[in-house]
Amino acid sequence: MTQARHQHTAPSEKTEEAPSLAPETGVDITALVERLDRPVVLIGLMGAGKSSVGKRLATMMGRGFVDADDAIEDAAQRTIPEIFAEFGEAYFRDGDRRVIARLMDEHSGVIATGGGAFVDPETRALILEKGIAVWIDCDIDTLVERTSRRNNRPLLKTGDPREILTRLLDERGPLYDEAQVRVKSDSGPHTDTALAILRAIEDYLS
Ligand code: S3P
Repeated sequence: MTQARHQHTAPSEKTEEAPSLAPETGVDITALVERLDRPVVLIGLMGAGKSSVGKRLATMMGRGFVDADDAIEDAAQRTIPEIFAEFGEAYFRDGDRRVIARLMDEHSGVIATGGGAFVDPETRALILEKGIAVWIDCDIDTLVERTSRRNNRPLLKTGDPREILTRLLDERGPLYDEAQVRVKSDSGPHTDTALAILRAIEDYLS
């Protein structure tokens, strides 16, 4: 019998009061959130920190957070490695497309996507039209180190993770670059990346 990795409660759109000012950035978060009528959608390679950064960003914004990979696992009642093993990658990509389309309609907060989601032309067009795409652009050393901590990414089991991540960055980089916002990230704290995203979104909107 297969089981999803964990249970998820439906995220609320409003989690807590956002602080009005992030002192480190000078960004007036309340004013920024009021102007944001679209979900913030985090994209980028495996290990970039989309989920961890996304949770912190949503908390700072006082908005809900949802992880598309978790939503796919919930819908399939299987983990991602199980979905790949039982049904194949094409099936996973199809589920990814449908789940993200649903999340884009349901959520006005922060959505973390799996690394391949934005590669799909339909998903990419939808995110660019209905959301603000934020590419968390992370160096390969950090991606290799972070992804080595968990054994839950089928694509990285097909060869040398560094080579695979380097190839994926080559292939996907030009597509990720279509995002409205790009933030460089390194091995530093996720909170710093979340703050950098707030600053970058404010720049984008002004
Ligand atoms: C994938 C990334 C994974 C997950 C799946 C495929 C990809 O998500 O969706 O293993 O194609 O890059 P994370 O980027 O959250 O690890």
